[in-house]
Amino acid sequence: MSILNSTIVSFVKFLPQSVVHIFAKKYIAGEELQDAVNVTKQLNSKGIVATLDVLGEAITTKEEAKEEKEECLRVLEAIKKNNLDANLSIKPTSLGLNIDTDYFYQNMREVITKAKEYNNFVRVDMEDSPYTTKTIKIFKKLQQEFDNVGIVLQAYLKRTEVDVEDLNKTKTNYRLCKGIYVEPAEIAFKEKQKVRDNFMHVLEKILLNKSYVGIATHDDFLVDGSYDLIKKMNLNKEDYEFQMLYGVKEKLRDKINADDHKLRVYVPYGKKWYAYSMRRMQENPEIAGHITKSILKLD
Ligand code: FDA
Repeated sequence: MSILNSTIVSFVKFLPQSVVHIFAKKYIAGEELQDAVNVTKQLNSKGIVATLDVLGEAITTKEEAKEEKEECLRVLEAIKKNNLDANLSIKPTSLGLNIDTDYFYQNMREVITKAKEYNNFVRVDMEDSPYTTKTIKIFKKLQQEFDNVGIVLQAYLKRTEVDVEDLNKTKTNYRLCKGIYVEPAEIAFKEKQKVRDNFMHVLEKILLNKSYVGIATHDDFLVDGSYDLIKKMNLNKEDYEFQMLYGVKEKLRDKINADDHKLRVYVPYGKKWYAYSMRRMQENPEIAGHITKSILKLD
């Protein structure tokens, strides 16, 4: 990220939420479940599948976590009712991982049980490093009981290769991404190319194990590298999928879709859009220009 970008994004934190919302709305389907349903219908009509995410993280009370869980159950019902090609992604702290691990486990069990009944699938998102070990531990416990749950691993973490070796012992369904949180250099690769190299290295390990993987990136280097690997390993369309975030690099998204790879878009919605959108803005190389223009009313 350029110095100008990071300066502008630091400045955005001081703007009122109503102003931030102007830039944030590009990355979220809307505030209501129906908004996510409408976006998913549009994606499905182009042959693109989706994963829905109820925005909300670092919940601090059991009441809030219960509300989030109930909204997750409503998402599964809406997917079924509207006959959508979509599944559900969940941030562990939104269902109470930071309150009580057993409480989180019970909430996940309830949602995954409902998903199973509807022949659907739940992906456990990965948050920052204080939660990695706990998330994997509970995921493994859920995996003993359910076959419709998957996990996310982050290529910037040095531990990820070892986690893959461990999770490859069971039939694990992965999403592999670079990772978005700010982590210390002791545990995370900091150089862009090192993260990319680890991504490709780990991806190969997953695919050699014949595990299903969501290749979650907008980085042309990684998309091209994945295309090469898919060709080299002679993979079938059913062995993997690409995944991208709603509102990011739509041209690349349409290209991957046109190249006949399965493509899933992460569709977040909800009233708690602030933290998620701030992370997306920090990743957007053009954000400084957009914000400056908008503030100066240049377009
Ligand atoms: P990179 O950030 O280098 O982006 C590549 C290019 O894409 C950029 O140069 C830019 O052109 C464009 N781009 C990227 N972001 C943009 C933006 N916001 N606006 C405009 N252009 C943009 N992380 C995590 O820690 N835990 C998780 O559970 C998940 N889950 C997840 C699901 C899915 C489906 C995706 C695609 C990503 C995640 N992530 C995540 C986020 C992930 O870790 C990572 O931060 C982003 O995908 C950005 O990394 P890229 O690989 O796209 O590369």
